[in-house]
Parts: sequence; C-alpha cells; structure tokens
Amino acid sequence: MLKTAAALVLAFLAMLAISFVTSDTPPGTTTIPPAPQRAGDPAAGYQYLLYGDMVGRGIPLPLFQKTSGGKSDDDLDRTGDSQGIPFPYNVVETADGIKVVAPTCLACHAEKLNGRLVVGLGNNTVDLTRDQSATFRASDIAMQVGYGKNSPEWAAYHPLSRGYKAVGPYIRTAVRGPNSADKIFAALAAHRKADDLTWLDEPQFEVPKAVAPTDVPAWWLLKKKNALYYNALGRGDFARLASASGMLTMTDSAEASHIDERMVDVIAWIRTLEPPPYPFPMDAELAERGQVIFEKNCSKCHGTYGETPTYPNRVVKLATIGTDPLLAQTYQKYPEYHTWYNTSWYAQGPHKAELLPTDGYIAPPLDGVWATAPYLHNASVPTIEDLLNSPQRPAFWKRSFDNADYDPAKLGWRYTTETAQKDKETYDTTLPGYSNGGHTFGDKLSAEERRAILEYLKTL
Ligand code: HEC
Ligand code: HEC
Repeated sequence: MLKTAAALVLAFLAMLAISFVTSDTPPGTTTIPPAPQRAGDPAAGYQYLLYGDMVGRGIPLPLFQKTSGGKSDDDLDRTGDSQGIPFPYNVVETADGIKVVAPTCLACHAEKLNGRLVVGLGNNTVDLTRDQSATFRASDIAMQVGYGKNSPEWAAYHPLSRGYKAVGPYIRTAVRGPNSADKIFAALAAHRKADDLTWLDEPQFEVPKAVAPTDVPAWWLLKKKNALYYNALGRGDFARLASASGMLTMTDSAEASHIDERMVDVIAWIRTLEPPPYPFPMDAELAERGQVIFEKNCSKCHGTYGETPTYPNRVVKLATIGTDPLLAQTYQKYPEYHTWYNTSWYAQGPHKAELLPTDGYIAPPLDGVWATAPYLHNASVPTIEDLLNSPQRPAFWKRSFDNADYDPAKLGWRYTTETAQKDKETYDTTLPGYSNGGHTFGDKLSAEERRAILEYLKTL
C-alpha cells in the first residue's frame, strides 16, 4: 500500500517535472536546438564576399563593360578588376583564364538605406516580376555573335545562362520588392544529380509553380539563430547550407567542396555583423516604458535585449502565428526538393546540412528591426506601426522605392494606400502568398503601449 502511494507520488512528481520543463516553451511553438558549426576567419570571409568565386561563371568582362556603359561607383571600395563593377557583381577568372562578371551574395544581401550601402541588409527593392530567362536568351545571341559557341568565353558564360534559363519561369513574383530565392534552389536542384551535383538538362522532379514571396533576412541576426530561413528549414552546418549558391553555375561536387570551404569564413564574417544604429532622435523615457511592455508581451518569442541578451529560437506554428501559410505549406506539400537535398552531396560527411521543414515560422531576433522594413516573412507590412495594429495594415500599398523615403514616426517605408494593384510597385495582399494577416499580438495593447514598444524597438 505504502509502496503504491510512493509510486503514485513519484509518478505525480515526474508529471510535474515534465510540465515544468515544457511550460518553458509556450503552446503552439517548438524550440530549435543548436548545431555545431565550423570556425572560420572573418577577414578572409569578407574578402571572399567581395572577390570570391561563389558563382564562378558569368558575362565576359569586355562584353559587360560594353553593354553597361563603363565603370560605376561600386560602393564597396574594391580594387583590381572588380573596382567600378556594381556591388551585386564581381569579376572572377575561370580556370581557362577568362575574366567574367558574376553575381555574388551581395546581389540579395546588401541594400542602400538613407543613401548608404549596408552590407548584410536584405535587398528589398529587387524586381523579379519579369521572366529572367528572356534576358539570357538575348545575351546568348550577343555571345554567339561576339565569340562563337566554340570559344573559351562561351564555356565561361554558358553555365550562367543555362542556370537562369532553368529557373526563370519558376521565380517570378507578382510585385516588386520580395524575393523568391528558395524557389531558385528548388529549381536548380531539379537539374542537379544528387550525388555528384552534375547538371541534368531535363528536370528530375516537378518544381511547384506557385511562388511564395519572401523578404531577405538581415545577416546580423544570424549569430543568434540555430536554424536558417523563415521556416527554420536549414539545419546543421550553416556554411554548407549557404554554399548552395554554387548550384547556379558549378561543374560538380568538387567545385561545391571548394565553395563550401570558403563559405566557412563567410559565415564567420556574417557572425561579426552588428545592426546599424537608429539614426534619428529617440525618446529614452518612452523607450524604457516600452521595454517593460515588450518583455511582458513579446519576449517569450523574440527574446530579451541589452547587456545579456537571450533568444529562444522558437518556431511558432501556423495555427498560432496566422501569417501567410504558403511558404511553409509549399515544403509540406512538395517534399521533392528537401528529399533531394537530404540525400545529396550537401547532406554528407561530418559538416553536413539538412532541410527540415516546419509547419510555422521562426520568431526572428529584432536587433536593428527599424532598418528591415517591410515586415513579416513575405514583406507584406510596410511599417512596424501597422504590424502592431493589424486593422490598420493596408491591403494595397505603394512605396517610392527611394531608400531615403523612411518614416521615423511609423518605423518603415512611407507609402500611399491604394484601392487596387495599379502597377507592379503596388503590394497586393489579396494574392496567395502575399497576405498581411496574422501576428495580432499588438492589437490587444493600447495605442499608448504600442507607441512605447515602437520607441523601444528603435533602441535594439
Ligand atoms: C537571389 C538572392 C540571393 C542570393 C544571391 C543569396 N541569397 Fe542568401 N538568402 C536569400 C533569401 C531570399 C533568403 C531567405 C530565404 C528563406 O528564408 O526562405 C536568404 C537566406 C540566407 C541566409 C539565412 C539567413 C537567416 O537568418 O535565416 C544566409 C546565411 C544566406 N542567405 C547566406 C547567403 C550567402 C553566403 C550567399 C552567397 C553565397 C547568399 N545567401 C546568396 C536570397 C539570396
Ligand atoms: C507567439 C510568439 C510571438 C509573440 C508573442 C510575438 N511575436 Fe513577433 N513574430 C513572431 C513570429 C513567428 C514572427 C514571424 C512571422 C512571419 O514572418 O510570418 C514575428 C514577427 C515579428 C516582427 C517582424 C520582423 C520582421 O523583420 O519582419 C516584429 C517587428 C515583431 N514580430 C514584433 C513583435 C512585438 C513587438 C511583439 C509583442 C507585442 C511580438 N512580436 C509578439 C512571433 C511572436
């Protein structure tokens, strides 16, 4: 009898312990554990970002210069051949000694803000509404006329054109601003053999037609994260994950391995990045009141800031967060890409990576959040004021795309509210993938409390 009572008490205590452990994670959320990362050299990583061969094929330099009208200000103070090349590109030399202009990571991971280029700020002005493959069909003709198909220049160019023509039809967005990079990788994977990553002319699986538009996360957030990408898809070694850009033009896994090794340094450099400080006046007293309200209402998902910051790495399920489901659901519905990835070269060896889809989105760290408008993973909300008060979010909104058109009162882009999508620069939240719903955590606060949180967010 006593024994059974003791067993019951023990079982009860065990239950308590379990509920105690799990009560740390709010309902509707899961916590992502850390994965070991390779150590790299940040300075070498920055050099590789400026000059590296992460995309090792491109437009021959003389042809680029002829069509682009000479040198421009590259904003990166580069030297050598890359000096005067616009910042989204660099000049690399192929094994045959051909100098080509190729896109780099900074095509999507650098952006101008208030007139200054911020490396690590996601590109939020790109226009992917047109089919890129048309451009490359035109440049194929220029290349054939200029160099001929048997030239080393053609060999140095053709993989880039081949890659863009394969992905072009799959990556069109409906509005200017958001990106579609996750579809670029899915479409390229369809053309790469999983084991040695060599090119296949015919796609080996069907790539879904629907494009889920995304913002580009700021790189300075990476050092707090245990998984990459909005739906926490990217697990394991971050350098291995980021090296996937090689899929655009590389020959095979030997080249992938070279890019992977360099990417270790790039990730090390990204981890040193700090957010740009808020450049306009702030009300310190209001921000202090905002901190208290933030810690009560927001910290369980977004963490705490200051001297000893904490960040819980929490994925919030679609049913709880309620933001546009298309991005997360695409991975649930079409497993071909992540199944390919998880058996591919990228998922082998001691520094392997893995794609593990979730049914939700990660609550991002909010460091430097003032600089990363528009908001939510699909860039559907122009300002933080609108984000914190969901009935106020505009269904159709248009911005000037002038990087100095910043609104310090609302924290985000100045915009006009429209009644329909009048052009591609009008964001249309009625389209699938483009919804501005969900994340209603600010609605229950008073206008005064929201103003205080807004002020506090300026200090992060
Ligand atoms: C065509 C645009 C594009 C290019 C080029 C590009 N990226 Fe990205 N990158 C993105 C987008 C979009 C995301 C977010 C995707 C998502 O979460 O679904 C992203 C996400 C990332 C992330 C994860 C950030 C986070 O917080 O989750 C890292 C790290 C990253 N990219 C590194 C790189 C590196 C390094 C390169 C160059 C080798 C590169 N990217 C090239 C568009 C691009
Ligand atoms: C239950 C968890 C949770 C709570 C509570 C929460 N958030 Fe979030 N927050 C998220 C998630 C998840 C996202 C990303 C959603 C998406 O992109 O679809 C997000 C996104 C954001 C963003 C946009 C970030 C960006 O760069 O796009 C801001 C700003 C933000 N939250 C602020 C707040 C504030 C302020 C509060 C408190 C009033 C709060 N959040 C409460 C989970 C939460």
